Amino acid sequence: MVADKAQKVSLLCIAGSPRRGGNTDRLLNEAVAGAASKGAMVKHVTLNDLEIAPCQHCDGCIQTGGICAIADDMQWLLADLREFDRFILASPVFFMGVTAQAKAMIDRCQALWVIKYLLKLPVGLKKDVARKGAFISVGGRSHDNLFQGSITTVKSWYHVLEAEYMGEILVKGVDHYNGIDANDAALKQAFALGQQIVS
Ligand SMILES: Cc1cc2nc3c(=O)[nH]c(=O)nc-3n(C[C@H](O)[C@H](O)[C@H](O)COP(=O)(O)O)c2cc1C
Repeated sequence: MVADKAQKVSLLCIAGSPRRGGNTDRLLNEAVAGAASKGAMVKHVTLNDLEIAPCQHCDGCIQTGGICAIADDMQWLLADLREFDRFILASPVFFMGVTAQAKAMIDRCQALWVIKYLLKLPVGLKKDVARKGAFISVGGRSHDNLFQGSITTVKSWYHVLEAEYMGEILVKGVDHYNGIDANDAALKQAFALGQQIVS
């Protein structure tokens, strides 16, 4: 079936920081504005507001054929991760990786891993629609490999989501709550990323 050309591209933006209105939030807000400026359908969720338990490795998703056994907000988020076309995850660096909120959400996608690798079914529910993902991160320090751990995790997550890793905005050396406001170039890049990912 050919996708309806008039149908809006849908973008799921996932905020992974516990610090509401902080640096990654501000960048993600710009990306949301950029996507909206292109007429995309955007849903913006904040993981810290949700109830998402860590994966228990109970293998319930194997027994049920891809349905996670834990009844919390991840049930609808897993459905969104199959339904939406494009994704942006924003997470600051916490101990050289993504935040606990983001990692809990990613680990719960083991249910999608079961669908992809054990059931050998498509994870994305729409046919003929490109699935793409991007990553936004900020770290307080300035190591060379500051984002390496997070990128490895996020790329592996997008691989399971069957979403092409299409871009990233990575800002080092920003620690204070609104430090990113001094980086106009990064804020503009985030707006452009939002436009690009839905184009
Ligand atoms: C628990 C914790 C761990 C952190 N670990 C790192 C780290 O490993 N490397 C680093 O550069 N910054 C680290 N930071 C700093 C944050 O990445 C930085 O403050 C960032 O700007 C926060 O983004 P946010 O405002 O979107 O939450 C850490 C902060 C916290 C609270």
